[in-house]
Amino acid sequence: MAIMIKSPQEIEKMRISGKVLRKVHDAIAPHVVAGASTMDIEEIAAAKIAEFGAKAAFKGYHGYPSALCTSINEEVVHGMPNQKRVLKDGDILSIDCGVIVDGFYSDAAVTYSIGETKPRIQRLLEITKASLEAAIQQCQVGGRLGDISAAVQEMCEAEGFGVVRDFVGHGIGRSMHEDPQVPNFGPKGKGPRLKAGMVLAIEPMINAGGPEVRVLADGWTAVTVDGSYSAHFEHTVALTKDGPQILTL
Ligand code: MF3
Ligand code: CO
Repeated sequence: MAIMIKSPQEIEKMRISGKVLRKVHDAIAPHVVAGASTMDIEEIAAAKIAEFGAKAAFKGYHGYPSALCTSINEEVVHGMPNQKRVLKDGDILSIDCGVIVDGFYSDAAVTYSIGETKPRIQRLLEITKASLEAAIQQCQVGGRLGDISAAVQEMCEAEGFGVVRDFVGHGIGRSMHEDPQVPNFGPKGKGPRLKAGMVLAIEPMINAGGPEVRVLADGWTAVTVDGSYSAHFEHTVALTKDGPQILTL
């Protein structure tokens, strides 16, 4: 499938979707505290999405049961909200959410630390977030997709962190997943040319240890093979001739 180029009007609609998603993330942030269950957070998100007249993009996607993915500690992505999973001091929690507004998807994730976490884990969160920012800086018309991938890989591997290979970012628009895939690894200067009107969900998933992941028997939850903690940050980004625009900011 070819990479879809969005018109300025379509990008405006995606910007509205991204703004709604940002408000959902902002609404749940104060509730990410020790003692809260991941289902508590899910319920707040679901209520906010409804209040904004939006639709939860993940719920029902290949049978996925929730509006959020809530992945704790060694869980990488696709952890499912659960009343029995209660946050405690020293945990990290990745919250991934997608919404649909007026037919357009947006997708964003953030990793929180609960109370005090180990310095190495704080560093993991900082570097994963910084690698997303570095990747967004590479969203320049005339560049190559590999420039985005390499920016994440170089920054994270320089710190000794493991870059997950089994999950990647993606184009986004009237579907959650469009071409191209956006890996967090690979050589710069390679891959499709970046063009104005592309919209990408860029989402580094970075482990404190090795890059290997496996999926639990629930069919969804991806965890690190070595049990190391994992961080995930994601933005939906539009490429324009004036440079990248983060739609989920
Ligand atoms: N942010 C994830 C992605 O881009 C979406 C979660 S997949 C779902 O693939 F199945 F949980 F919806
Ligand atoms: Co995504």
